[in-house]
Amino acid sequence: MLGKIIDGQYRRPSGLLGRYIGNRMAVDHYPENLWTVSILQSKATDWILECGFGAGVAIQELARVVTQGRIVGIDFSETMVDAARKRNAVAVKRGIVQLHYGDVSTMPFGDDTFDKVFSIHSIYFWPKPGEALRQIWRVLKLGGMVLLTILPKDKWNPANPDALVGTAECKPYSGNELVHMLTEAGFSKTQVVSDEHSEVPSKYCVIGLKVNDRVTG
Ligand SMILES: C[S@@+](CC[C@H](N)C(=O)[O-])C[C@H]1O[C@@H](n2cnc3c(N)ncnc32)[C@H](O)[C@@H]1O
Repeated sequence: MLGKIIDGQYRRPSGLLGRYIGNRMAVDHYPENLWTVSILQSKATDWILECGFGAGVAIQELARVVTQGRIVGIDFSETMVDAARKRNAVAVKRGIVQLHYGDVSTMPFGDDTFDKVFSIHSIYFWPKPGEALRQIWRVLKLGGMVLLTILPKDKWNPANPDALVGTAECKPYSGNELVHMLTEAGFSKTQVVSDEHSEVPSKYCVIGLKVNDRVTG
């Protein structure tokens, strides 16, 4: 029962407990947030979108580099939008960081807006991941990159990698599954990148590029 409540908070933090879980994620997920930001290789002028930004740690790191472009976020937890706005208050005030409350499947951004779109530990919870990936493809500029950082499915239960993991509200993926889903959504040049020397199993992401201006699928 308690486990279910905690799991729900990771999916969509809310209220006081949500704020506590958000603070915990900020610490526990810091290594893979930092690693993901390093893989993005951002430039000062980049327009970047994070889907499911939680406490806003990756956005805070990106704001050190992206000083002329925009760092935009979307998250469907009001508690996390509030927490991330506080964490990034200075950059929000300057207009460099813009944090939106909303669902990744219905993104309120124009076509061809972003150079890079990324997400960390969030896709497991998206009810319509295929639709969300098509939205990401739509809002990316031609040549833009999507990057999804995950704990791969076989690491959720290392004692039994073949065990069926996940619930109706939380679905872990393998790298190959995400490669397939990205391809279906229109992305090309997909690749899996991981830090094999790290003890953090979530330093693992799947990348895709938008190389065509329409889905050739
Ligand atoms: C486990 S937390 C990860 C947060 C952060 N990226 C990190 O690494 O700590 C998942 C986040 O994704 C958000 N999220 C889950 N499903 C979403 C959806 N369909 N649309 C928007 N945000 C979503 C949650 O509200 C939560 O903030």
